[in-house]
Amino acid sequence: MTQLPGLLTESALLDEAIRKDFPLLDRVVHDGKKIVYLDSAATSQKPRQVLDALNEYYEQHNANVHRGVYLVAEEATALYEGARDKVARFINAPSRDEVIFTKNASESLNLVANMLGWADEPYRVDSETEIVITEMEHHSNIVPWQLLSQRTGAKLKWFGLTDDGRLDLSNINEIITEKTKIVSFTLVSNLLGTHNPVEAIVRRAQQVGALVCIDASQAAPHMPLDVQALQADFVAFTGHKMCGPTGIGVLWGRQELLEDLPPFLGGGEMIETVSMHSSTYAPAPHKFEAGTPPIAQAVGLGAAVDYLSSIGMDKIAAHEHAITEYAVQRLLEVPDLRIIGPTTAEDRGAAISFTLGDIHPHDVGQVLDEEGIAVRVGHHCARPVCLRYGIPATTRASFYLYSTPAEVDALVDGLEHVRNFFG
Ligand code: ALA
Repeated sequence: MTQLPGLLTESALLDEAIRKDFPLLDRVVHDGKKIVYLDSAATSQKPRQVLDALNEYYEQHNANVHRGVYLVAEEATALYEGARDKVARFINAPSRDEVIFTKNASESLNLVANMLGWADEPYRVDSETEIVITEMEHHSNIVPWQLLSQRTGAKLKWFGLTDDGRLDLSNINEIITEKTKIVSFTLVSNLLGTHNPVEAIVRRAQQVGALVCIDASQAAPHMPLDVQALQADFVAFTGHKMCGPTGIGVLWGRQELLEDLPPFLGGGEMIETVSMHSSTYAPAPHKFEAGTPPIAQAVGLGAAVDYLSSIGMDKIAAHEHAITEYAVQRLLEVPDLRIIGPTTAEDRGAAISFTLGDIHPHDVGQVLDEEGIAVRVGHHCARPVCLRYGIPATTRASFYLYSTPAEVDALVDGLEHVRNFFG
């Protein structure tokens, strides 16, 4: 590792022994090279504790939930509902009934858009109203609102971006107006890494009586998340980026909203009574969980929450901050490298996107792969950001609790190799 005094806050780093919890990090890829996994913003690796919980669930407790009266079914229900308790504690939700399990953050955000689309006054989104998002959203927080706007005639507005990759809030009073029904934005950008100023946006939204939805997909895995402190109305995130399995997402919503708003999907277990003419609905969260839910996945997410909590989200955040600070500094030393997003570790997460001269990111990714380094290349499902900065794509390195300074060095060496390769 390159020792540069003051550059790396080594005391903030987690013990590298935690890497032993993640079997995939031992994987050998090309030519006997051990994988350098720098794609945790796409999905995190899974610790053995989560893999074991999934196995144990399937081997010992597998049954459908909320239905059976036999022992194993009751165990499955207790595990599934126990996972809800764990998630509620993890995000400091006032009530476990405010935690809805979905299949991913995209479904959570689509659920909010559809709740509002089918709602009565005062929540109803229609042609007299406005929806506000930002130019740095993942497609998951753009397309559902475009669909809602097309269906209802509501006007879709957004905050633009500054040249240094932050939200341009200079016209906040023109963007969020008395007509705004909902403001939906990401807490941390998956492409730029920017950590957004929640307070200013929430304050303005509250002034005009608009609801606030926060996409915390790139935040929940990396920092303490307190839905009460955020003062939002909805918070969405996904399990697979926070050491959990795929197929499980979360939507937290304020209880009174969940009581008032209509369900989106209909089916088993979300009802109170059904006749051939009409139905009444179960209370939240079940009203929003039609059909057999992702049971094993919720149990796996519960185990992931236990795992992260046992380390401590503050410590994970401090580790990532130190790694990000080091990575930003080292990447800026690479000739022709341009970071797309904030170039300091302040107010940013651990996903760092960059371009390297005129070399196409797909070529960068391929040469890095031959060195055993896994990064994501492309528009990262945030194409408007690439359009804003006049680039077709980026290479993105993203770090997590198991990332090490040596992996940052491996990336920088790999980029040197890319530059030599392309002359
Ligand atoms: N949303 C994930 C990413 O940014 C897949 O890579």
